[in-house]
Amino acid sequence: MASILPRAAPRLVALHFISSTKPTSLHLQRASALPLAFRRYLATPTQEQPRLRLGSIAPNFKAKTTQGDIDFHQWLGDSWGILFSHPADFTPVCTTELGAFSRLAPEFEKRGVKMIGLSANDLVDHGKWIDDINDISKTNLQFPVIADAKREVAWLYDMLSAEDQAKPEIAFTIRSVFIIDPNKKIRLILLYPASTGRNSAEVLRVIDSLQTGDKKGVATPIDWVHGEDVIVPASVSTEDAKTKFGQVREVRPYLRFTTI
Ligand code: BEZ
Repeated sequence: MASILPRAAPRLVALHFISSTKPTSLHLQRASALPLAFRRYLATPTQEQPRLRLGSIAPNFKAKTTQGDIDFHQWLGDSWGILFSHPADFTPVCTTELGAFSRLAPEFEKRGVKMIGLSANDLVDHGKWIDDINDISKTNLQFPVIADAKREVAWLYDMLSAEDQAKPEIAFTIRSVFIIDPNKKIRLILLYPASTGRNSAEVLRVIDSLQTGDKKGVATPIDWVHGEDVIVPASVSTEDAKTKFGQVREVRPYLRFTTI
C-alpha cells in the first residue's frame, strides 16, 4: 500500500484515503493537528455545491494554473473542453496519466478539444511535478494544470468521495473526467478510484461519438470507434434515414445501422 501514497501527504491521512474503514477519532485528532504546510489538504467549500448531471452547465470558476490565471468559461471560449483531475502531485498513477494525456495532446487538438488538468497542490509543486512527468514520459506538457490546493474547484465539481465528504478536513480529489461541449454543457462524467488509471483511448472514443452524434444525428453502438457503422436513432424513420445516409441495415425495426 505504502508505495502508492502521495509523496507529500501525511501518512495517516493518506492511509485513510485508500482504506475503506470508517475514520476514527484518532484520524480526526491527527488530521486537525497537521502542520500548516499540510492544511492544503483541507476542503474549503466557498459556495453551494451544484448538482452536476449530464446536460448541466459546467460551473464557472477562476483559478491559478501553470499557464496563468484563468476564468474557466473564458478559457473554454467556443471550444470543447476536457477537465481531468488528480488526487495529488507526485503520485504514481497520476504521473502516468498526465504523461499519456500530454503525449495525446495532438489528438485532442485535432478534435478541437482544449485540455485542462487539476491537482490539489500549489503551482510550485505543479512545476516540479511537470518537470518529472516530461522527463519520465518524454513529453512536453503544454496544457494548463489548475492549482487547487484548497480543493475549491474539486468541491464545485463534486470530486470528493462520500467517505471524505463526511470528513472534509482530509478530503482528497477523486480522479474525474468532465467532457464539456461548446455550449458549456457537461456531456460526460467519469469518476475513477485512486488506484485505477484512466483509459485515454476511451476518452477520445467518447469525444468522437459525441461529436459524430451532434453532427450527424446518430448514436454509436458498443465499442464503436470512429469509422465504424452507426445507429439510426428511433426518432428517424427508415425512409428518412435512407434519404439522409443511403443504405440502412435493419436488424430489427428498433435496431438499424448505417454508414456515414
Ligand atoms: C496515484 O498513484 O495517483 C495515487 C495513489 C493513491 C492515492 C492518490 C493517488
